[in-house]
Amino acid sequence: MALSLVRMVRLALVGLAAFTSIASALPAPPVPRSTVLAPDADPFYQPPAGFASEAPGTILSQRDITAAFFGLIPIDVEAYQLLYRTTAVNGSAIATVTTVFKPKNAKLDRFVSFATAYDSSATKCQPSYAYQLGAPQDSLIASVELLIIEIYLALGYTVASPDYEGPEAAFGPGRLAGMGVLDGIRAVKSFKTLGLTGNPMVVGMGYSGGAIATGWAASLQPKYASELNIKGWVQGGTPSNVTGTMYQLDNTAFSGLLPPAIAGLSKPSAYGAELDTFISKVMTADGQKILDSAVSECVTEDLLAFFERSIFESSFQSMGEDFIFDPIVQSVLKQNSMAVNKDETPTAPTFVYHATNDEVIPYADAKKMVNSWCNWDANVKFTTYASGGHATTEIIAIPDVINFVKNAFAGTTKSGCIANTELGSILNPIALGVELEPILVKLIDALFNLGEQDSKVKSDPVGVLSTNL
Ligand SMILES: *[C@@H]1O[C@H](CO)[C@@H](O)[C@H](O)[C@H]1NC(C)=O
Ligand SMILES: *[C@@H]1O[C@H](CO)[C@@H](O)[C@H](O)[C@H]1NC(C)=O
Repeated sequence: MALSLVRMVRLALVGLAAFTSIASALPAPPVPRSTVLAPDADPFYQPPAGFASEAPGTILSQRDITAAFFGLIPIDVEAYQLLYRTTAVNGSAIATVTTVFKPKNAKLDRFVSFATAYDSSATKCQPSYAYQLGAPQDSLIASVELLIIEIYLALGYTVASPDYEGPEAAFGPGRLAGMGVLDGIRAVKSFKTLGLTGNPMVVGMGYSGGAIATGWAASLQPKYASELNIKGWVQGGTPSNVTGTMYQLDNTAFSGLLPPAIAGLSKPSAYGAELDTFISKVMTADGQKILDSAVSECVTEDLLAFFERSIFESSFQSMGEDFIFDPIVQSVLKQNSMAVNKDETPTAPTFVYHATNDEVIPYADAKKMVNSWCNWDANVKFTTYASGGHATTEIIAIPDVINFVKNAFAGTTKSGCIANTELGSILNPIALGVELEPILVKLIDALFNLGEQDSKVKSDPVGVLSTNL
């Protein structure tokens, strides 16, 4: 079992670059696919009439699920899904789902909120769908990040993973995602079946697309959900400045993240009222086709569909570089850049980490965000990883993240702002204790494959790891 899981992680990660027939390499699923419905076809995702008058975070319905790795291997935990009321960008009520995993030895005074990087504007890519036994695996990042969730389960934390992009799967609008995370935490907190005590302590985390959600949850929490007992936030590879991120992604192997972001920002629950007319006016037929594909496909397909292409091409839209400097577009992008408003500064201890050589999300923008927050009296630990690229850093940082989470729950993080640089990319699974070793070994195996894909990794993670194990 363990070996085949490792092989599947490998396949899943390789699949990020080449969406080949993963399904044919895997054994037939033990449950017929038809028993798990995609969100658009599943009545569970539909809120009951009158839900808009409920408070944000109210549970609207609940169910048990069988959670599984890659849709195939059941995970031995209790798992639930909650449909809860949250808020669209324009303030109106919407409903989305969070998935809760509760391990056998769960600590009852705390839980972790994990924002997975699903990076897609198609509803079939909602993590709540991918987590179910028998679901097709269109969301490969969510599947791999489930291994990271498994670490927190092994440490005795209940973990909740919200569909923070909301019911329309709007990828990009950070404010929507931030409210989705905070209301998801409210829903979990009030879910009696878990037996959580008092006002449970919470640490929220996310990497990359998940850091959009987490950074915004951290920013909005003091005003939007001040009653929550947030002990810390963890955000790595943070796309803090949308304009900067767009430039960095354009015309690269990751340009395929841009069309789903444009489509996501243009959904009615996001900035459709502002952007819709403008977008449909400037898109070419080819550009519109790419946006249509972005609202029906997951990240792997999106990356292939717009590989090494530019959103400034005349074949995509008619305005050239002026496209993102149109005042309407700039206003939306600015509203979704972090650390612009002083009254949106996180108050809970926050761990921000980023690779200097991150080829996907600009390091300089994350650093600027940290500087602004620190000027506004935030409590931030900022770690710079001097080697490794975007994907590898998520895995390399795991021991530091675990330590921060433990300290945050214990209330022993240092106050004020501190910054440090880690020079080596060394992940030693034994150092974290034997109970985590098997999971970390699987992730290290995944890292080998990521290293091959991550062309700008300066160090040799395979060599570094093999000499240190
Ligand atoms: C975001 O990045 C753009 C492009 O690099 C820059 O012009 C803008 O000032 C940045 N915004 C913030 C809030 O830092
Ligand atoms: C406000 O948000 C709701 C919920 O997503 C959406 O249905 C509605 O169209 C939006 N209204 C405007 C004027 O943008």
